[in-house]
Amino acid sequence: MRISVFRKAHFNAAHRLYNPKWSDERNDAVFGLCNNPNYHGHNYEMEVKLTGEVDPETGYLIDLKILKDLIKEKIEDRFDHKNLNLDTEEFKALNPTAENICYVIWTILREHLDEKYDLSVRLFETPRNFVEYPA
Ligand code: NI
Repeated sequence: MRISVFRKAHFNAAHRLYNPKWSDERNDAVFGLCNNPNYHGHNYEMEVKLTGEVDPETGYLIDLKILKDLIKEKIEDRFDHKNLNLDTEEFKALNPTAENICYVIWTILREHLDEKYDLSVRLFETPRNFVEYPA
């Protein structure tokens, strides 16, 4: 039986959206309030989805404790209460949009999960604005 399991998690982080190659005017025009030079925060909510075959011996797709600990160690501990632009390697040269954050999270988790699982990540920047990778 193929099935999907989900784990929700969250972290709080600050960011600023801008393109260092552009003028201040163009950054303001494109990124608006998100270009505030003094940064601003979001309560990021994420949904991690794994899909695959249920193990007939355990009845599990994956032990959710394993997924919970992986998300905690690799994502929450890395990004929670951080300034994404200043405090993380991942976003020193990558604009921390919801799109890019979602993709980075997917890449990190993908490295640590068996390839028998299909993985997708949904990231909510606000309750109404969210992105999903893969598309
Ligand atoms: Ni923002």
